[in-house]
Amino acid sequence: MARTMVVSGSASGIGAATSRLLTERGDRVIGVDLRDADVVADLSQPAGRQEAVEKVLQLADGVVDAVILSAGVSGVSPAVLAVNYFGATTLLEALRPALAEAAQPRAAVVASMTIAHPTDAAVVEACLAGDEDQAQAAAQAAIDSGRGTLLYPSSKAALVRWMRSVCLQPDWAGAGIPINAVGPGVVLTAMTEGLFDDPRMVAAMDAAVPMPLGGHARPEVVAEALVWLTSPANTHVTGQVLYVDGGAEVAVRGAARF
Ligand code: NAI
Repeated sequence: MARTMVVSGSASGIGAATSRLLTERGDRVIGVDLRDADVVADLSQPAGRQEAVEKVLQLADGVVDAVILSAGVSGVSPAVLAVNYFGATTLLEALRPALAEAAQPRAAVVASMTIAHPTDAAVVEACLAGDEDQAQAAAQAAIDSGRGTLLYPSSKAALVRWMRSVCLQPDWAGAGIPINAVGPGVVLTAMTEGLFDDPRMVAAMDAAVPMPLGGHARPEVVAEALVWLTSPANTHVTGQVLYVDGGAEVAVRGAARF
């Protein structure tokens, strides 16, 4: 039977590839994005998140088989936290009751292998406390002190820690809902497109995210992992980050860390 899959960031890159793959398999996709989506909403804003949840629940008739959250932004800006962390966690919390109504509910988020890089503790802690104002203030402080590049890995590290903090709860594992993340390396999407114009940027990126297996990935590669994590075949994997990164996480953290 066709499952109803909610995909954020569905208009581009990994979210678009995931939507295509699911549709090809016969699932129904409810896409959420800033444009070109079933539900057009701005997940950086509390009102936009609420609007997204309301419209999704309406379209899904209250039963959602899977939530796959790919919407995200990079760069040195507090907006990174608003979309990557608060946009994702708010949607997951609000859609969880509709997931619980499904026969084989699943959830997955798109993190990043950059969680293996340094993060800003104050930003991560403010996110985990659910305090968006404090998180934005900590983000601004990081930017002001020249540590703005830590914001993106911090947003994804906080998202993974949040996922691991909820995954065992009665509302998630107890309700039969696995929740996992993928940790992509460099993926060839609109997000990274501009970086390839500057050879120095490519060199810096390849040094930070070395991908000995296969090099830079197409978005379809990450989509395959998301589709499996949210399929009925995944009965026992929860709270995990599946790195789809050509070996970058092992390269950065070393073989001893597992
Ligand atoms: P993309 O730029 O191709 O797609 C991101 C989508 O998110 C876009 O359609 C965009 O409109 C949507 N989005 C952004 N802000 C939004 C907002 N406020 N409200 C609603 N939708 C919004 O980028 P890509 O590469 O597909 O990124 C998908 C996810 O993968 C992101 O979470 C990103 O952080 C993550 N990621 C990407 C990597 C890469 O190398 N491209 C590497 C690791 C993680």
